[in-house]
Amino acid sequence: MRRSRRFSQANEEIKTVLITGANGFIASHLIEQLLTTTTYNVRASVRNIQDTSKVAHLVTFPNARRRLRLFEADILNEGAFDNAMKDVQVVFHAAAPYFLTSDNPYRDLVEPSETGTFNVLTSATKSEHVHTVVLTSSMRTIADRPREKEYTEDDWNNDSNLKSNPYFYSKVKAEKSAWDFYERSTRLMGVAPFRLVSINPAMVIGPSHTKRMNQSSKVLFEIIKGEIPAQVNLSFWLVDVRDVVKAHILAAQNPHASGRYICASKTLDMAEIISILKQRFPDYKYPWSLTLPNVAAKIVSTMRDPAGYVSYVKTNVGKGAYKFNNSKIRNELGLEFRAIEESLWDQAADFIRWGHMRDKLSNDWVYKAPAAIKDADVARAYGWGFNSFVDDNSDRDIG
Ligand SMILES: NC(=O)c1ccc[n+]([C@@H]2O[C@H](COP(=O)([O-])OP(=O)(O)OC[C@H]3O[C@@H](n4cnc5c(N)ncnc54)[C@H](OP(=O)(O)O)[C@@H]3O)[C@@H](O)[C@H]2O)c1
Repeated sequence: MRRSRRFSQANEEIKTVLITGANGFIASHLIEQLLTTTTYNVRASVRNIQDTSKVAHLVTFPNARRRLRLFEADILNEGAFDNAMKDVQVVFHAAAPYFLTSDNPYRDLVEPSETGTFNVLTSATKSEHVHTVVLTSSMRTIADRPREKEYTEDDWNNDSNLKSNPYFYSKVKAEKSAWDFYERSTRLMGVAPFRLVSINPAMVIGPSHTKRMNQSSKVLFEIIKGEIPAQVNLSFWLVDVRDVVKAHILAAQNPHASGRYICASKTLDMAEIISILKQRFPDYKYPWSLTLPNVAAKIVSTMRDPAGYVSYVKTNVGKGAYKFNNSKIRNELGLEFRAIEESLWDQAADFIRWGHMRDKLSNDWVYKAPAAIKDADVARAYGWGFNSFVDDNSDRDIG
């Protein structure tokens, strides 16, 4: 591995970290873990700081008052992070559009993902202190569909494009442009500008800090609610959100972490997911237990488009199970994955907690929800003065 200038100066102490897309599903968990398990100051960017429905939960996290600072930035604005990164050692870049369908996938998915990554890396290069950038990439940069082979970090998804699985394509373009940027800067500067690590999560499940459902939650919700009429021959690679954020923190803290890391715990097909969920949540609708023939599944997906995953069904149905090798992240970062059954049950219980579905939880399952964000907590946090959470150092240059 080529070592960065700042990195080789043994400047590995971490005092302040910056996270983009702070209100998102994964980033919110990351901020909570950083505030509770480390002593770092956390600088977190959101697109609209006034939108309390998106940021209120962040300011209720333990230690937020002392160590969390929010600022407003759009990843599409060049230079928007220059000021905020001035005294930061580690950047976690998690912001990216995450949805499956769009009338204009280049404009809505590829361009923001790619340009956003470029802008964040450019600001990191200009900063005196950033020694590590952890990029939230995706297993979708590795594969578009199951194949006979076992996927590793050496694989790249060459199948997705603007017409087929454009979200996957946006992740490929963003991660490739990050590695290109890194190689080019290293060549130009004669030394790596920072250490770049990508965490490539599978489909992320688990409890959410907000009521908003993201794209992955919607897929599980469609299954438990029986919105998909019958079972389909689809394979899902899964990972718990709490493991994903642990991987991010380990990658930042471990000076030997480098390159890409598959962050996936287990592959399950739809029938297996339903069977696990039914153990604790037997009384929901679920898809009909007969598995739809593959052709019928493709036709039904085109007609109904549940959660917007038509091209996903078309390219993945009947292709067998995803096989992957996660030994790099386990051996190099020491990540131990929690049981995926627990993640599925927590996710379903979370749907009840947020009022997405009625409570028919089986009595013997005790759900350990993340600390509930109560209106009183938010009011108290705002009572401290919301402005005390706003980063004065960074909002001056925000475009
Ligand atoms: N969830 C998964 O299953 C999964 C799996 C693999 C990889 N990932 C990757 O993980 C990252 C986070 O995903 P997530 O699941 O946490 O999704 P999420 O909840 O939808 O969060 C995405 C975040 O990105 C922000 N964002 C989007 N466009 C932006 C822009 N132009 N400028 C600034 N911020 C922007 C969003 O801000 P707004 O709220 O303002 O839109 C939001 O904070 C993404 O890069 C995603 O591709 C997710």
